[in-house]
This record gives sequence, structure tokens and C-alpha cells, in this order.
Amino acid sequence: MQSIIGLSQASRHYLELEEKFGAHNYHPLPVVLERGEGVFMWDVDGKRYFDFLSGYSAVNQGHCHPRILEAFTRQASRLTLTSRAFHSDLLGEYAAFVTGYFGYDKVLPMNTGVEAVETAIKLCRKWAYEVKGIPDGRAVIVVCEGNFHGRTTGVISFSTDPSSTTHFGPYLPGFIHIPYNDTDALEKVLAENKNIAGFLVEPIQGEAGVVVPDKGYLARAKQLCENSNVLFMADEIQTGLARTGRLLACDHENVRPDILILGKALSGGMLPVSAVLADDPVMLTIRPGEHGSTYGGNPLACATAIAALTVLKDEHMAENATAMGQLLRDGLQSLNSPHISLIRGKGLLNAIVIRHANADAAWDLCLQLKEKGLLAKPTHGDKIRFAPPLVINQSQVNECVAIIAESLNCLD
Ligand SMILES: Cc1ncc(COP(=O)(O)O)c(C=O)c1O
Repeated sequence: MQSIIGLSQASRHYLELEEKFGAHNYHPLPVVLERGEGVFMWDVDGKRYFDFLSGYSAVNQGHCHPRILEAFTRQASRLTLTSRAFHSDLLGEYAAFVTGYFGYDKVLPMNTGVEAVETAIKLCRKWAYEVKGIPDGRAVIVVCEGNFHGRTTGVISFSTDPSSTTHFGPYLPGFIHIPYNDTDALEKVLAENKNIAGFLVEPIQGEAGVVVPDKGYLARAKQLCENSNVLFMADEIQTGLARTGRLLACDHENVRPDILILGKALSGGMLPVSAVLADDPVMLTIRPGEHGSTYGGNPLACATAIAALTVLKDEHMAENATAMGQLLRDGLQSLNSPHISLIRGKGLLNAIVIRHANADAAWDLCLQLKEKGLLAKPTHGDKIRFAPPLVINQSQVNECVAIIAESLNCLD
């Protein structure tokens, strides 16, 4: 409640409505937004903010990107949903486009990120039974400690975060945990268990606070999987689509996942669009009637995703993420703040770890940042992700570093 002091009457009104009628499953910063454009969002009082979260990397292309918006509105007035009971003139076109774009035989379209993760798990198990020959019901998937892959009961079953799992059991069996960034542990588990179907990994652990693994980790892990005939599944929902300075974070190590999982910025923030990409020996194990979603692959999603992917390349967003990410980390480093114990990240997926006697310091810093016109959100208590839209420019990064510096000074 303390954080609503100083808010306008309009903002309080919206906050109170959410509080009274909405489930309390989030703890948002006290700011009520009504408009966005590029790297900026505006609140209901007309105050402008730099967006340093980008909808958890869903808005890589910037808010309301005009070319994505144009494709979205054009398709919205033409045809939005057919279901998969019928064909549409967009699904085939999108499938050809997205498989060519990422270099896979086939795509399976879904909506939210977690649905795509569930889809990858089902594909992996089906492949394990029908191609690899693991006895039915015995397939195991290796996952990493500290993972975040979404919120369904299936996916939280292999979360190691108590806030994701407590009192949501019973949990689904069939997963083995190993430490993140530990290829020795992967090698050991692969040698010990012959029923391993796949290894599911985030190329950088985003929700855990932008944990960047050692150089060579992904390449070595992929090699180990290949040696054991185990599918390497990359959850690039947060790291993909130019966020880390390459189209995929796996591209930094020239790793081609057997199953690629995408979401978030696949629609540039317009609507939930996710996808699983794989080659025929994996994808064709799922047959008609065995998996799907009413909205998956809808014409509106297809038209929007084509535009969202097109602008990523046309506007060189990966290159900009590399350059602006370096500028941001250098700028933060040069502050030499006693309150920052660590700066880490790749491209424009970055985080700082706060050092302060007050356990709420990261939250307090985010409130200061908000006052000064920058929106960011703590994760896991002491970490703050700095991940602006990939269209941010040099002078804007410099302005943001100055805002962060001023806000850090207010912590003393
Ligand atoms: C790596 C990763 N996987 C999966 C998800 C889940 O995506 P969604 O919230 O769209 O279900 C997220 C969301 O933050 C994510 O970061």
C-alpha cells in the first residue's frame, strides 16, 4: 500500500479495480499504462517512461511497431480464426516462411510460451517411444535447476522454485534435474540412464536473473546429447528473436537445437503466438488428433508473426542489440556503484544484482527508477532485469544510464 502514496486519483482508481476484482497472482509496480510506442510507454497521467522490461522480451521490436500493427489490423479485419478444422490461406504461407527463416522442416504453432514447452515435451516423448525405442511410459527428460519454462501443472512439476510449486502438487514424474551450466553433470546422467529422451534448457536463464552460462556450454551440451541420441531442446522463448544479439542465443555457439521453442516476440507483443520447430523425424511422430489448440496457427497470428520476424531482420535488431547491450553494460560498469554487486547479460538481455543491507532495495530502486521515467522489475528479490526493446538508440541508452545512476544515489 505504501507504494500507492503519491499516485494520481486516476492511477489509484485502476489499481483499486484490479485489487478488488482481479486475482492476486502478480505483484506489479504501481504504474498504470495506457499507451506505447517504440521504447516508450505512457501512464494514464501522460507521464512517459523508458520500458526496460519489454513485456519480458515479448516487445523486442518496440511497442506498436507500425509495420507489425499494419499487418495485424489488415488481417484483423479480414479473417482472424478458422480453427484447425479447416485450412486458411495464411497458415501454409506462415509455415513456409518460419521454417525457411529458422531452417527446420516443420513448425507446430501454438499460442503461449508454456504451451510450446508442453508441445516440445510431448514431441520429445513421442519420438523417444516411436523412433528411439524407449519402453512406453519410461521416457525421462533432463532439466536444469533454476529453470523457468512457464506455469502449467506439467511444467511447474520440474521447477525448482518453491513459489512456482508449493501446494500445486501432485507433480508429473519423468524429469531429472542437473545443475545449470554443468556439462559434467549432463555427461554423468546421460551415461547412467538409458531412458533419457531429451535435454530441455534455456540458453540463458532469464527468469532466474539472466544467468549466462560459460562459453562453450551449449555446444558441449549439444554434442553430449548427440552422442547419446538424446534430443537437445532449446527454450528460446525469452532469449530468441534477436534479444541477445543473434537471431537465437544458440547461434552464439553455432548450435542447432533438435527442437526449437519460440514465443513472446514472435508477434512483437500484439497477441500470444508461440511455435515449436523441428525436422520431420521428430515432428511427424505426432499425427492428426493427437495434439493441437483452437487458436494455434490462426490467420491473425500467422500474418502478425510474418511481419514481426520480417522487421527483426530488416531493421537489423540483432546488431543493434549487440551494440546497445555493450553500451549499457559499459555505462553501468562505469557508475562503480557500491549497490551493484554484479552486471551480467548478453545483447539487450541484462541484469544487475543489488547489494544493500535493506532486503527490499531492488524493489525500492525500481520505484525510484519509475519516478525518474524508467520501468524495470525485480526478479528473485535482488536482481533487476534491464531488457529494453531492441530499437533503443545510443542517446536513449545514455539517458537511461543517467536515470539509473540518479536512482542508485537515492538508495543511500
Ligand atoms: C524461458 C521461458 N520459457 C517459457 C515461458 C512461458 O511463456 P508464457 O508466459 O508465454 O507461457 C517464459 C516466460 O517468461 C520464459 O521466459
